[in-house]
Amino acid sequence: MKRAPIGVFDSGYGGLTVLKALEKALPEFDFLYLGDNARTPYGTRSFDVVYEYTLQAVKYLFGQNCPLVIIACNTASAKALRNIQQLDLPKIAPENRVLGVIRPSVEKVAEITKNGQVGVLGTVGTVTSDSYPIELEKWSNGRVKSTVQEACPMWVPIVENNEIESEGAEFFIKKNIQNILRKNKNLDTLVLGCTHYPLLNKIIQKYVPKEITILEQGQIVAEKLVDYLDRHSEIKEKLTKSGIINFLTTESADTFDEKASLFLGRKVKAKKIHF
Ligand code: DGL
Repeated sequence: MKRAPIGVFDSGYGGLTVLKALEKALPEFDFLYLGDNARTPYGTRSFDVVYEYTLQAVKYLFGQNCPLVIIACNTASAKALRNIQQLDLPKIAPENRVLGVIRPSVEKVAEITKNGQVGVLGTVGTVTSDSYPIELEKWSNGRVKSTVQEACPMWVPIVENNEIESEGAEFFIKKNIQNILRKNKNLDTLVLGCTHYPLLNKIIQKYVPKEITILEQGQIVAEKLVDYLDRHSEIKEKLTKSGIINFLTTESADTFDEKASLFLGRKVKAKKIHF
């Protein structure tokens, strides 16, 4: 039987933090991860470019027989998801589904915030799109009263270049955290609104007061996907279950294998692809 995996897409390695949670929550399913490492980061690219690249990736994953694609990237979710769902999907694959990471995160924030004072850390693209404040306003039933944001343009390059342990990482993380804490002194929830950021969470925690809940998206997205599949048996039925995870990258497969193995804590073997 031809494999029908869940496609997981990110501009680079960040989506691996989501994949890790997905494979834990749905171990029997097959996954196909695609990192557009040749063109990362997306965070500083324009709307049109992020849309074009994301659509290419989604089409590629559909071509690999993925009935469902998770865009495990906030920047792409913010800039491309709606167009893909509303304009492209009906034309290219009306029976397939594409889901993002912002909506599940927003629902979780609304569930856990006590005082409605929320902070979001993200890429320049995610922050300037205002997707979080808009969606939090729309979906939190009035529970979120204020959303402040901080763009952290250096954080994705730090992860992609494996500079996580460096002094530079510490400098930029401290600076951005101090900035957002200054924007609202009463935050009770801080969203890591970029799937790369959990890889920096050890340093982030050093600068965030203990009373503030730091939200990583992996587990949230996994929980919501389990629920989604229970409600959408027509998609669930199409997915194959042999517990196999494959990796694709648009850059060197050897480099991907080395870094991804480090992030996932086990060996992976990727295949290089061209769109
Ligand atoms: N992991 C992507 C996100 O969640 C990073 C985007 C980038 O490539 O800058 O936004």
